[in-house]
Amino acid sequence: MNFENILVEQANGLATVIINRPKKLNALNKATIEELHNAFKALENDLTVKAIILTGSGEKAFVAGADISEFAHFSVEEGGMLARKGQEILFDFVENLSTPVIAAINGFALGGGLELAMACHFRVASDNAKMGLPEVSLGVIPGYGGTQRLPQLIGKGKAMELIMTAGMISADEAKDAGLVNHVTSQEELLPLAEKIASKIMRNSSVAISAAIKAVNDNFKDGVNGFKTEITEFGNCFGTEDFKEGTTAFLEKRKPDFPGK
Ligand code: COA
Repeated sequence: MNFENILVEQANGLATVIINRPKKLNALNKATIEELHNAFKALENDLTVKAIILTGSGEKAFVAGADISEFAHFSVEEGGMLARKGQEILFDFVENLSTPVIAAINGFALGGGLELAMACHFRVASDNAKMGLPEVSLGVIPGYGGTQRLPQLIGKGKAMELIMTAGMISADEAKDAGLVNHVTSQEELLPLAEKIASKIMRNSSVAISAAIKAVNDNFKDGVNGFKTEITEFGNCFGTEDFKEGTTAFLEKRKPDFPGK
């Protein structure tokens, strides 16, 4: 896959997507958002890919937000369209991807950057990372799902404070709040994300996709996640992975999941 603003590396079932605009602190311009959409879509369709890590290039930033220079002169209609399209093609798209996506936050994750990390299935961070939703300091609100996913992850009161103050929290504070799962040094960040990914990749990819759907449905308007869980649980019994997983257990060996 050839892109201008991102790099995609693949090895042994693991894909690493690197947002690569370090001079602009990896800010998300329109082209980058579209490339990320295309990359995630292609990786989801590639059945050899069992997990994806998303990170930023350089040592300073994961993503320092949406590219302010692109929307500074937008009208009301254009602003609404920016949020709608971005949510649809990137943020909701990543959250609902059937392949697990881990955000490896290697520096600033601000505004759209934190929103992108929050759309991933879970997050790990390096100890220099700083996170926040500074949009109100620009006279706007988070538009890529930040007002919804931040309260889901850290609770309403903490989210309100972070959004209203436009403040930044450290990686350790983010861990205490439940926003990131692990904090490590910058050198150890990708190895840690890869170690977690390798544990995930040992399991049934079909069951993992079903689990992502069931967990996500808990947060969808008008959708009953318990019902999704029942349906997806039942569907697992028709998969080759289920046959292999249960047979391997009974035969006291490690499963070799076909991913079907
Ligand atoms: N959009 C567009 N460009 C951005 C950007 C963004 N969100 N964040 C950083 N950049 C650009 C800067 O304009 C600068 O470009 P230049 O060298 O051509 O002038 C370059 O990235 C480096 O950023 P700089 O501000 O010089 O780095 P810093 O170390 O002094 O500060 C930040 C780092 C993250 C604190 C600061 O860049 C910042 O506040 N960025 C905006 C964060 C934000 O409000 N995000 C939400 C957007 S909705």
